Amino acid sequence: MTPVVVKLGGSVITDKEVAFSYRDAAVKGLGMAMASSGVPVVLVHGGGSFGHTEARKYGLSSSKSSSSPEGVSETRQAMFNLDAKVCESLSAAGVHPYPFSPFTLLDRDGGGGSSFIERLLKAGTTPVTFGDVVHDGKGFRILSGDTICVELAEMLSAPRCVMAMDVEGVLDERGAVIGVLGEEGEAKISPARADATGGISLKIKEAMRMASSGTEVRFVSGLRPAEFSKALKGLRFHGTTVKVPHGVSSG
Ligand code: IPE
Repeated sequence: MTPVVVKLGGSVITDKEVAFSYRDAAVKGLGMAMASSGVPVVLVHGGGSFGHTEARKYGLSSSKSSSSPEGVSETRQAMFNLDAKVCESLSAAGVHPYPFSPFTLLDRDGGGGSSFIERLLKAGTTPVTFGDVVHDGKGFRILSGDTICVELAEMLSAPRCVMAMDVEGVLDERGAVIGVLGEEGEAKISPARADATGGISLKIKEAMRMASSGTEVRFVSGLRPAEFSKALKGLRFHGTTVKVPHGVSSG
């Protein structure tokens, strides 16, 4: 069975308002939903109040590199600490995580890429990776978990990517959940809301990229494991589905 890519947003696995606050119960709930679904999953998680707290402190972002080796180290360490917590909760929920840095995916000659993921899944483990600090040749930048999802979805030809967030889907200007987003996706979100929710505009842009190459993207509340489970299994769920006719690029 082709694996489904799942992103556990930083807003689900941590309380973004409180530095280094981890949500064990929420991750366990999602872990149980994954373990009982029978769906092979490749998991990506965000940084929430771990990675982003350090990144902010040292002025690191996806567009801005940092010249602080201390900042690079601290931010990365925060991500590894968070990843250890996520993997512990997942194990307690019956998932068998195999955590790795997204760097591993780049090592195609050394067995990276899709064969690496396939081997892990075949052995009964769940590949787990996360937003990380990467060197792009010019400097260290943040590689968002959302961007990793796009790479994974393409590499694996994933039928679906489920994005778990702390809201029930993509919201319109009035705060109502948008059921289906098509090619007009970005235009439907008012710029004010895109800014206020921080990061949602990048998420939608990445979702459009995935949808245009054949991966359906589902935004769902990560705080409602039953809805998450339906989204994961490809059933009707409460949230937002991003669908773009195959082969149409969002530009
Ligand atoms: C951020 O990853 C990773 C670091 C801060 C190093 P994401 O951008 O995917 O995190 P969330 O989901 O928005 O918290």
